[in-house]
Amino acid sequence: MLGKIEHVAVAVADLDAAIALYRDVWGLDVEHRERVEDQGVEEAMVRIGDSYIQLLGATGADTTVGKFLERRGEGLHHIAYEVDDLEGALTQLKAQGVPLIDEVPRRGGRGHMVAFVHPKGNRGLLVELIQKPSS
Ligand code: CO
Repeated sequence: MLGKIEHVAVAVADLDAAIALYRDVWGLDVEHRERVEDQGVEEAMVRIGDSYIQLLGATGADTTVGKFLERRGEGLHHIAYEVDDLEGALTQLKAQGVPLIDEVPRRGGRGHMVAFVHPKGNRGLLVELIQKPSS
């Protein structure tokens, strides 16, 4: 069902400062930056090899990531796996009784279709499934 790890997402309180850290300390540059209004996030994709670190800032305090930062502080937010059949993956997970945040795919950053799997059925880890247009 799963391809590679597409990205590892880190919630950050200051997106510009985080971008500077990844550039200056780790030597990694932002390949794509985007505000996804309906998710309440601004994300910066930092390429590392064949995957990305997704720096995830909140567009406001009253957003999912804003509340996460308030409650947990900065740090690991979710891991995104690439799949070639998102609908099929959701059907399979549902059949196994895995709790889903998104029962149907929705549009995420970079125009990719995504769906989130609830951490409560996954040992506390929020997982994002991503299907790219080419796959
Ligand atoms: Co993500």
